[in-house]
Amino acid sequence: DVMKELLGLRNLEEQVELKLGVKKVLVVAGNSDEDHWVKHELGRASVAELKAKREPSDVIAVMGGTTLAAVAEMMTPDVGMRDVTFVPARGGLGENVENQANTISAELATRAGAQYRLLHVPDQLSEDAYSSLVLEPSIGDILKLIKSARVVIHGIGEANTMASRRGSKSTFIEKIEREQAVAEAFGYYFNREGDIIHKQRTIGLQLDELDNKYVISVAGGESKAEAISAYMKYRPSDVLITDESAARRLLEIE
Ligand code: G3H
Repeated sequence: DVMKELLGLRNLEEQVELKLGVKKVLVVAGNSDEDHWVKHELGRASVAELKAKREPSDVIAVMGGTTLAAVAEMMTPDVGMRDVTFVPARGGLGENVENQANTISAELATRAGAQYRLLHVPDQLSEDAYSSLVLEPSIGDILKLIKSARVVIHGIGEANTMASRRGSKSTFIEKIEREQAVAEAFGYYFNREGDIIHKQRTIGLQLDELDNKYVISVAGGESKAEAISAYMKYRPSDVLITDESAARRLLEIE
């Protein structure tokens, strides 16, 4: 694309691919920390990637967050998606309704003219409640569908931001500070080496179930560079869709 060449973004993409060991990096202009429209550019690029990758009866699992909400806003009708089913990758993680995976997957499906299924589970589950819920046939069916997803699209957050936005207890916030968490994705927290330091118990796709899936990570803004770097150390995604500020900052990380 000529515009990307002109802005030097293609060169930036290649440098980030090498740095993170990610096969495909897409960089949009701007800084989503400062300008909300940049999230919509991330959304536009993500929608193009989803449409390019979809197969007729695909199941696409979707995570939550404001970035994924912006992805959903950019979805447009696609007859090729009529038999595609969008599902939330995981149950509630303490987000406002507009940022929940359920809402976002329904929105993506409605805009595309595709199908969706909801996962009705409460946010914070005790171990007992969790074990009996997974045995419920209605929950079991949707869980099977979620685990069968071929494509997964998710955001990456900065650890402290995510913990406080989700109203985590102060003991938990102290724990992630003590253990120097820098990243959050799928309800898991990571340190800068990419080690998991905490896993939030909710139903749905677990991080060790991503093998053989096409994973698209979407995260931008300079403030997320450390988080992106840490998460990609844990598991390099098939595609990273990010913005210019995050990409430039990523290249400076040791
Ligand atoms: O798991 C990652 C977060 O959901 C990212 O949230 O897109 O609102 O920054 P965000």
